[in-house]
Amino acid sequence: MTKIISPSLLSADFGNLKTECEMINASEAEWLHIDVMDGSFVPNISFGFPVIEAVKKHCNKMLDVHIMIVHPEKYVQRFAKAGAGMLTFHFEAAENPQEVINLIRAEGIKVGITINPDVPVSSLEPYINHVDMVLLMTVFAGYGGQKFIENSYDRIDELRAIMKRKNANCLIEIDGGVNLENASKLFEHGVNVLVAGNAIFNTPNPKDTIRDMLNS
Ligand code: DX5
Ligand code: ZN
Repeated sequence: MTKIISPSLLSADFGNLKTECEMINASEAEWLHIDVMDGSFVPNISFGFPVIEAVKKHCNKMLDVHIMIVHPEKYVQRFAKAGAGMLTFHFEAAENPQEVINLIRAEGIKVGITINPDVPVSSLEPYINHVDMVLLMTVFAGYGGQKFIENSYDRIDELRAIMKRKNANCLIEIDGGVNLENASKLFEHGVNVLVAGNAIFNTPNPKDTIRDMLNS
């Protein structure tokens, strides 16, 4: 089973982005998770294209870009150009999710679709055969450092059942409140990619934490 750690840049030290990228490069993290928030789809604002471009210059891992923005279709090309290797948009934010999927595919990068914890997992059924990854949010999108929502395990199981029925083989990613305590249970439930911000960057040795999370 594919197991990947995608540390969330949101919890990194923005005054030392180059050093943080070098730490990620030297770690066992295969991806780097990048959270873009627009102050409209979510109340918070994070950062945009110039920061992603700067990170792309220094980070040699795949940029796993999670866009929490309205009108994702308008910005697909720019995120691809800025260096996204995977672009994950919110189902709730898209008027026509299939159109967004097609636009991302046309850029030749990987496609992800995501939902907040209050959106039925079944909403994704029409799309799971057309995406490379489904991201199930395990907190409400918008802020780092929130508490993992416990009923997420049932949602992961439900997603896996739908994938089995539809013969889909996309990756499953989890984002929000992931730490060294719940990582192994998440992998046991079939999660492939763990995003973690606080639980990695706010530890004395983030590289060791990444390794421990991967091996949990
Ligand atoms: C929240 C973001 C997350 C966030 C996770 O909206 O999508 O990626 O950085 O942070 P932690 O791991 O601290 O919950
Ligand atoms: Zn995220």
